[in-house]
Amino acid sequence: MADTPPALHLCMGSACHQAGVYAVLPVLQRLLAEEGLDQRVELKGAFCLGSCMDGIVLQFKDRQFLNINLHNVEQKFKEEILPALRA
Ligand code: FES
Repeated sequence: MADTPPALHLCMGSACHQAGVYAVLPVLQRLLAEEGLDQRVELKGAFCLGSCMDGIVLQFKDRQFLNINLHNVEQKFKEEILPALRA
């Protein structure tokens, strides 16, 4: 049986919802696909990740990525999230 891919958790809690997580979600899906990671990392919705003041929040393993929005998601993905996913 194949190993389950590690999960990249995207907060869908109310603060992150208010901050526009539903607009960020398709951008993340596209970026993961462009990097060929969509089969190797599972993007999963999560309940509140506990950093609501710093939303929108993504978590991979024990690391959180904070203050994500539609304008910076691409840059943060390339500079912070992608290296963590590939580590
Ligand atoms: S609602 Fe997203 S961290 Fe709390």
